[in-house]
Amino acid sequence: MPWIMLCPHFIQPYEKIKARGLPDNISSVLNKLVVVKLNGGLGTSMGCKGPKSLIGVRNENTFLDLTVQQIEHLNKTYNTDVPLVLMNSFNTDEDTKKILQKYNHCRVKIYTFNQSRYPRINKESLLPVAKNVSFSGENTEAWYPPGHGDIYASFYNSGLLDTFIGEGKEYIFVSNIDNLGATVDLYILNHLMNPPNGKPCEFVMEVTNKTRADVKGGTLTQYEGKLRLVEIAQVPKAHVDEFKSVSKFKIFNTNNLWISLTAVKRLQEQNAIDMEIIVNPKTLDGGLNVIQLETAVGAAIKSFENSLGINVPRSRFLPVKTTSDLLLVMSNLYSLNAGSLTMSEKREFPTVPLVKLGSSFTKVQDYLRRFESIPDMLELDHLTVSGDVTFGKNVSLKGTVIIIANHGDRIDIPPGAVLENKIVSGNLRI
Ligand code: UTP
Repeated sequence: MPWIMLCPHFIQPYEKIKARGLPDNISSVLNKLVVVKLNGGLGTSMGCKGPKSLIGVRNENTFLDLTVQQIEHLNKTYNTDVPLVLMNSFNTDEDTKKILQKYNHCRVKIYTFNQSRYPRINKESLLPVAKNVSFSGENTEAWYPPGHGDIYASFYNSGLLDTFIGEGKEYIFVSNIDNLGATVDLYILNHLMNPPNGKPCEFVMEVTNKTRADVKGGTLTQYEGKLRLVEIAQVPKAHVDEFKSVSKFKIFNTNNLWISLTAVKRLQEQNAIDMEIIVNPKTLDGGLNVIQLETAVGAAIKSFENSLGINVPRSRFLPVKTTSDLLLVMSNLYSLNAGSLTMSEKREFPTVPLVKLGSSFTKVQDYLRRFESIPDMLELDHLTVSGDVTFGKNVSLKGTVIIIANHGDRIDIPPGAVLENKIVSGNLRI
């Protein structure tokens, strides 16, 4: 596919959307919204069993707790009934449902539906690994959730799409449950409900400026008059460097999406949602090589009418994929207010520090054990930690701090230590 530069009207700056302000009837606009969180994923990459959404991220609150708090706050503030819908997978459904009772008294109606399960395919024979369609303990590895692109078919098949349309809902706001920046934005919602040219926009993708740290994120291009999401997995090897270039492809997909419910229904009924298939090779625990075919929710952008990219501030993209991300969101760099995290005003620069915790910190349990309390990071620029390192209570990290415990060594940062532009390594003690 030739790269085609985007016409500016395809991607609008958030500031322009915000400048339109909010109407007096914002509550009635909000009542046409449904919030959907993608909750099919497990916390395995952070060494946790069970749904990722149930990992504690801030003051004992899980991703799910924070989501519920945000929507409850919205409903109380505007006297509305914005529901929360969780798209679970067979991996997360049971554990998530057990927890939901906890929110019975919150002012948020919570619904769930299950995405599909697909059979993994043997890479050699190209036959399904599962011997039959039953799904029991011994062959759970034979199945997989086929990516978040499955949302369209599964939401439709669950009956919830029709239920919400029947209730007068018009848009869904879809996002990854692990993106703590994905809060309901009233300006974007208003832009959709009151389109400036009267032409309804069926699909908005929130994109944000790429930095060198996120060169792998999907980007938007323009092809045959429509917006298209291009993922790194689809790019031929010879063009990967060009794709990663921060100056050529300036923005990437945050996976915060606003989608018209009636458009999903129309396209689903016409079988017209077209998403590229991503071939994901994996090796199962027993060593068997398999492939799984996946789709991404944002790839459907080209099937919708009047799609738009909105270039939002970085603060709307705050994903927690690793314990290094977790350290940032647990620290005093952020303050928590009604389930939303905002950068502390005490931080003098608007960027977050670069944090790289080594493999001894990968699992959440190990990470938590290694910090007696989360260090003060307000003045930190860069932190690298490698090897067997622990942090005592009330440590302060400033500027660039590098702590490297060599193999067989252990470094305990004492309580109250202030490390400013410091390298601590080997047997060297501070
Ligand atoms: P991932 O964590 O797997 O993807 O899922 P990613 O690599 O960070 O980013 P993307 O795919 O480019 O956005 C992102 C979100 O999608 C959910 C996960 O639970 C998580 O919230 N997800 C993923 C599903 O709900 N179903 C799936 O089949 C895959």
